[in-house]
Amino acid sequence: MRHLLDTVGLERSLALEILDVAEDMAATQHREVKKLPTLRGKTVVNLFFEDSTRTRISFEAAAKRLSADVINFAAKGSSVSKGESLQDTAQTLQAMGADAVVIRHGASGAPHTLASSGWISAGVVNAGDGTHAHPTQALLDAFTMRRRLHGDASRGRDLDGVKVAIVGDILHSRVARSNVWLLSTLGAEVTLVAPPTLLPQDLSAWPVARVLFDLDEAIAAEPDALMMLRIQLERMNAAYFPTEREYARRWGLSAARLAALPADSIVMHPGPMNRGLEISAEAADSPRSTVLEQVTNGVSVRMAVLYLLLAGEHGDTDAEGGAR
Ligand code: NCD
Repeated sequence: MRHLLDTVGLERSLALEILDVAEDMAATQHREVKKLPTLRGKTVVNLFFEDSTRTRISFEAAAKRLSADVINFAAKGSSVSKGESLQDTAQTLQAMGADAVVIRHGASGAPHTLASSGWISAGVVNAGDGTHAHPTQALLDAFTMRRRLHGDASRGRDLDGVKVAIVGDILHSRVARSNVWLLSTLGAEVTLVAPPTLLPQDLSAWPVARVLFDLDEAIAAEPDALMMLRIQLERMNAAYFPTEREYARRWGLSAARLAALPADSIVMHPGPMNRGLEISAEAADSPRSTVLEQVTNGVSVRMAVLYLLLAGEHGDTDAEGGAR
């Protein structure tokens, strides 16, 4: 694998390979010494132009547990705020000998620009670009579903027939978009649930089974996994719903809605959560919530991605995904 930019176009076999390697990585994370020597001598740069806590720390932990050297480059306070371009930043990283660049950027397509520019020879991992894609989040979500549903028999299995409902701010969510494509590649049946104002205008190209405007109807259809999305207030410059109270009433996962879900359905959220808005404290903290498992699994999945990118033996596989 040369880069990981998107889940659109990501081959099923490669997606399963990443998930299976992540199983191997997870198995090492219960040991007292979690660190593996695998990427000793490699340099991973975390290039974050957008605020992030868990994703940046997760990539940092993943790289360090594989013994790579990690350089964190936050755009705030760097010369990027003085107007240095992506090209200059990339060329600086190249000159420093980066082997992989993990990039988060507010502009959709920035990771793809970096990967196809010729400015750097490093592998590029998209850690979230604008409202476009967040492939490692989708992979860790799929890993979490597979684990919860198939347990120790997860290896090699896809999500054939698994019913997933993705709920909330689909319009602004790179998590939703990356999940829709990966989940459909893995055989899951995806339902989108949102107010019409928080859905993209044209969904005809999205591989989803149905779109619902009513959360209770989605719950009555007994999904195996209910994925709640954060309301991305920072990306909203208009009124997408009347009030937060009204949103919570109609679209929030309340204690009553949690109780109406089948007993073995799981509740997911990529974090950070707006408790009381899209998800109630009862749902967030219930045993059916996988929120913290998602964080733990994120490290294993990112270890797998960095390993497949940098350990060499898969270097000739073209696995960029069909990012534009
Ligand atoms: C997501 C993101 O940044 O896209 N969060 C994350 O990666 N932990 C989702 C979100 O911000 O709502």
